[in-house]
Amino acid sequence: MRGLYVFILIFIFVCCIRAKKVRWCTVSDPEQRKCAELAKALVAALSPAAVAAFAKLSCIRASSSTDCISRIRANRADIVTLDAGEVYSAVKQFDLVVIAKEMYSDGGCVLSVAVVRNDSLDIRSLQGLRSCHSGVRWTAGWSLPLGFLLSHNYLRWSKERPLSQGVSQFFSASCIPGAGAMAPSLCALCKGQKSYIRQRNYHCEKSHSEPFYNSQGALRCLGSGAGDVAFVDHLALENIKAADEYRLLCADGTQAPLSQYGRCNLGRGPGGGVVTRLNFRRIARKFLVTAQLLFGQRGRETKRFQLFNSSSYGQNDLLFKDLTDKLAVLPDGTDVSQLLGLDYVALLKGLGHEGRSLDDSVVRWCCISHAEMQKCEQWALRIESGPLVCVSAVSIRNCIEKIKRDEVDAVSLDATHTFLAGKCGLVPVVTEYYGTECAAADGSTHWETEVLPSVVGVAVAKRSSKKIFMGNLKGGRSCHGNLYSPAGWLLPHRHALSLEHNASIPCDPSQAYSEVFWKGCLPGSDGNLCKVCMGGSGQAATKRCAGNHNERYYGNMGALRCLVGDPSGKSYGDVAFLEHHSLKANILSLSSTGWAEGWMTSDFELLCGDGRRAPLSEWGSCNLGVIPPNTVMTRPVLAARVYDFLMKSQETFAADSNAEFKLFESLQYGESDLLFKDATRCFVHTGHMDFRSILGDEFYIHAETAFNCTHSDLLEFCNQDICSVF
Ligand SMILES: *[C@@H]1O[C@H](CO)[C@@H](O)[C@H](O)[C@H]1NC(C)=O
Ligand SMILES: *[C@@H]1O[C@H](CO)[C@@H](O)[C@H](O)[C@H]1NC(C)=O
Ligand SMILES: *[C@@H]1O[C@H](CO)[C@@H](O)[C@H](O)[C@H]1NC(C)=O
Ligand SMILES: *[C@@H]1O[C@H](CO)[C@@H](O)[C@H](O)[C@H]1NC(C)=O
Repeated sequence: MRGLYVFILIFIFVCCIRAKKVRWCTVSDPEQRKCAELAKALVAALSPAAVAAFAKLSCIRASSSTDCISRIRANRADIVTLDAGEVYSAVKQFDLVVIAKEMYSDGGCVLSVAVVRNDSLDIRSLQGLRSCHSGVRWTAGWSLPLGFLLSHNYLRWSKERPLSQGVSQFFSASCIPGAGAMAPSLCALCKGQKSYIRQRNYHCEKSHSEPFYNSQGALRCLGSGAGDVAFVDHLALENIKAADEYRLLCADGTQAPLSQYGRCNLGRGPGGGVVTRLNFRRIARKFLVTAQLLFGQRGRETKRFQLFNSSSYGQNDLLFKDLTDKLAVLPDGTDVSQLLGLDYVALLKGLGHEGRSLDDSVVRWCCISHAEMQKCEQWALRIESGPLVCVSAVSIRNCIEKIKRDEVDAVSLDATHTFLAGKCGLVPVVTEYYGTECAAADGSTHWETEVLPSVVGVAVAKRSSKKIFMGNLKGGRSCHGNLYSPAGWLLPHRHALSLEHNASIPCDPSQAYSEVFWKGCLPGSDGNLCKVCMGGSGQAATKRCAGNHNERYYGNMGALRCLVGDPSGKSYGDVAFLEHHSLKANILSLSSTGWAEGWMTSDFELLCGDGRRAPLSEWGSCNLGVIPPNTVMTRPVLAARVYDFLMKSQETFAADSNAEFKLFESLQYGESDLLFKDATRCFVHTGHMDFRSILGDEFYIHAETAFNCTHSDLLEFCNQDICSVF
């Protein structure tokens, strides 16, 4: 008897301590029914021991997905599938972990689409209309479309107010499930039952009991005539009946049939994910793997139950999206920024997803050298109410990476780096203007123009080195400004540099230069193209070949210094590839800055592409090619803020012509072209343009050709595709 008692005790211990129940959080009756069916199907398909060990499922009915997050946190439920926008909050604000990501047949991402029935609407004129959204702070229904409207300046939002207020003033009425607490008009179109009893109030809740909840519901909102436009994910388009009554609004202002969502959308973002508590993640993972093995798309037991099919319950997308192909189960330590993508996380921050912070009104400018930091700090001091923060980076490529990572906000880029930044998903704000006339007819600072004056790239030699010309550079010493610069890196490669290499020049410019030249200085590169570089000292100390002005041979000024050589006479070049603008001023400053005495413009000559030599004044006919102007680039959601800040700076400094600080001068810091080119007269608004049209097709194709055969860590970093990686 006593033995039996002990046996029972042990049995209870083994079974009941180990038996982990998985509590799935549901938000509606249909979802609760599907969950209950899953629980039954697990019992039927698995051995009792297996069920007891990790597949005993119970279903917890909550009132909304927000309620689910709090219940999981409080250990009153364990697991739920959420939209990526909520995944981010669940992880960042509520310390939950993501353990799986929904994968669809075309990857792990959703496209945000704007659907209408009226064929005279377009994306640029949605103001005053009635809108339907899948859910507040959701990827396709909120973050991507609002990011789009903000970055194109269709929707104005001043950071002093919450975004929801801007939205409620933009649309005349909306149904945005979950937005109840933000502003009444954001729920005005919703149809769910209203009740003062919390559990029975479905109005504007993130629950299937609100008829206009999620993408399917938003389409219902549109279809019923309650709204004029619905913001949903592309997966929901599959279920639309009478598809020819509906149209998509494209980014360019046109409309397209539903089938064209691939080109006609407002952006791409991560799909849904499954979250749980940190200490529950192992069991939850095991549970998901088992459920998927049995009931997933290619499961063993799909006759009993289908995980990604909700049709028997009278609703779509219960527990998971119906179009889920499989769940990608994630390893421990998966970083949520990596999972959701840097662009998306930056967008959420830009939209104040985590609540507002002091950062919201600051613009962080990227500086790549001691001299740039000095100039930037002067700028920040002088522009009183516009808070500018100067952040240092090691190179211009590093600036682009930091902008992607949301560590800085903006920087002015030369044409090749504009190309790289554009490929990385950054957008133009303004372009530097090098012409003479500089204002709109009405005198306002906002100014747009069709003609963006360019600069030209030239090859310069000392007049005394008579034997040097294009086509005869083999074995010489070269000075290049910096890696990927238009004048120092991209253009020279397009010309015959040496007879020996005329036919068989490598298509990667760096490699070509390293074969043609004996040695040189191409700051930011390596090998023999660093051997002529100098490095920097004092406060600007750096080792040789750094990709910033701390390296004395960096940039247009640096390439000129390189050509004349350092005072010791050791590190000099035979040819310098640089931009023509400011060349004269830079030659004069050689002595005023104490670098080298006595040099005059007549001591230099241009090397023309055809092998001739010519005086500097003939740069118009003797050059290596045209270079589009520099452009300030940022993350899309910040475009309007950075623009306002730059206009304010420009107005402040223009109003006081005696001001000590000049945005477009650098000589007082001992360098040239700090932050902006010294040749800049003002900024031209180019926020409405695509980076390709700023660069022009010809330059764009040259840059693309060069980067097609150049390994760039930056492009590799930018092209990590969150939609297919996991
Ligand atoms: C379509 O939209 C236009 C512009 O907003 C409006 O004037 C027109 O009445 C709408 N047509 C219908 C059928 O709703
Ligand atoms: C979903 O289930 C229903 C009925 O159970 C079935 O008719 C339908 O074919 C299923 N859909 C898919 C995509 O498997
Ligand atoms: C290089 O080759 C091209 C054609 O093959 C020729 O037109 C050009 O003159 C050559 N350049 C030099 C510098 O020899
Ligand atoms: C560069 O490569 C891409 C992808 O392989 C290709 O589509 C594009 O046409 C190439 N561009 C040029 C200018 O060669």
